[in-house]
Amino acid sequence: MAASNAQTLLLLPGDGIGPEVIAETRRVAEAVAPDLQLEEALFGGASYDAHGEPLTAETLARARKSDAILMGAVGGPQWDGVPRAKRPEAALLSMRKELDVYANIRPAYCFPALASASALKQHLVEGLDLVIVRELTSGVYFGLPKEITALPNGERRAVDTQSYTSGEIRRVARVAFELARGRSGRAGKFPGVLSCEKSNVMETGVLWREEVTKLHKEAFSDVPLHHMLADAAAMHLVKTPKDMNVILADNLFGDILSDEAAMLTGSIGMLPSAALGDPGTPGLYEPVHGSAPDIAGKGLANPIAAILSFEMVLRWSLNRIEAADRIVKAVDKALNSGARTGDLGGSMSTRQMADAILKAL
Ligand code: IPM
Ligand code: MG
Repeated sequence: MAASNAQTLLLLPGDGIGPEVIAETRRVAEAVAPDLQLEEALFGGASYDAHGEPLTAETLARARKSDAILMGAVGGPQWDGVPRAKRPEAALLSMRKELDVYANIRPAYCFPALASASALKQHLVEGLDLVIVRELTSGVYFGLPKEITALPNGERRAVDTQSYTSGEIRRVARVAFELARGRSGRAGKFPGVLSCEKSNVMETGVLWREEVTKLHKEAFSDVPLHHMLADAAAMHLVKTPKDMNVILADNLFGDILSDEAAMLTGSIGMLPSAALGDPGTPGLYEPVHGSAPDIAGKGLANPIAAILSFEMVLRWSLNRIEAADRIVKAVDKALNSGARTGDLGGSMSTRQMADAILKAL
């Protein structure tokens, strides 16, 4: 039995390429943090197949007791016909909601060796280092009603509800401002927080802009704040991404902007993320990429996003900064030595990429 003060990390490999990238991350964890207690549970479609539930009460209880949770990926076409509440994605949304990890931090950092692998011109992404702070437990993902109903005329009508309270906006905006404060002194047009919404057409956008402005005046007037409509921000992100530092957005806009930002870094296989709640809550960490059913089980997935998500676990939840720095350096070194999986234009397997990183450690 481990000492009661041992730190624990619950691994949720999930579906698709999830188990493959988490297996490699486990090797990295064992190398840099041998005393860390690693646990594992089924999640998403894998849990549904075994237990009839994508997230069991037992797994949720274990998550609450862990210091952090690292998820691989969820979903796949084999669960397309499953009712929404039992779908693999529902496990992820419930886990986020239950743990109340409302601030999703998604850094987009372009490793120098990958500047030429981006879909954008090299000079636009060389040195890119921005962070998206996405609201994660409210908005249109969770608002009620959420339903498809039959209309008397035989048509069907679908409704999703976009809803935000001032408190929900303020708590995630605070995280963005604090993050920007620690990343001050940046060049570019938007050196502090760039807050994105659609206040031109949405009431939630109006409230978002007002509350962010209020909080800024009250507590963060030293941090530069800009507002931008989310569609314009999407455009700006591919035009001059280095103008941006901390991008703040709601759940849906943040989801979209973060996939876009991921591609700037060379591949979506590179992007880690952290979901954080109030102090004392276990953090939920996930690579931004999905379950990639097309390449699942073939050993082709890039494990870097998962390995860098573990790096974020060390940094944000376990306060093991040195080990985290070691991982970033090792990934950089492996990439510099030419290590590339298919998504980066190379031919290495998941295992070989992890081997290259372990060697560089
Ligand atoms: C993400 C994913 C999820 C989301 C899906 C799998 C529910 O796209 O984490 O970005 O939309 O939040
Ligand atoms: Mg997404």
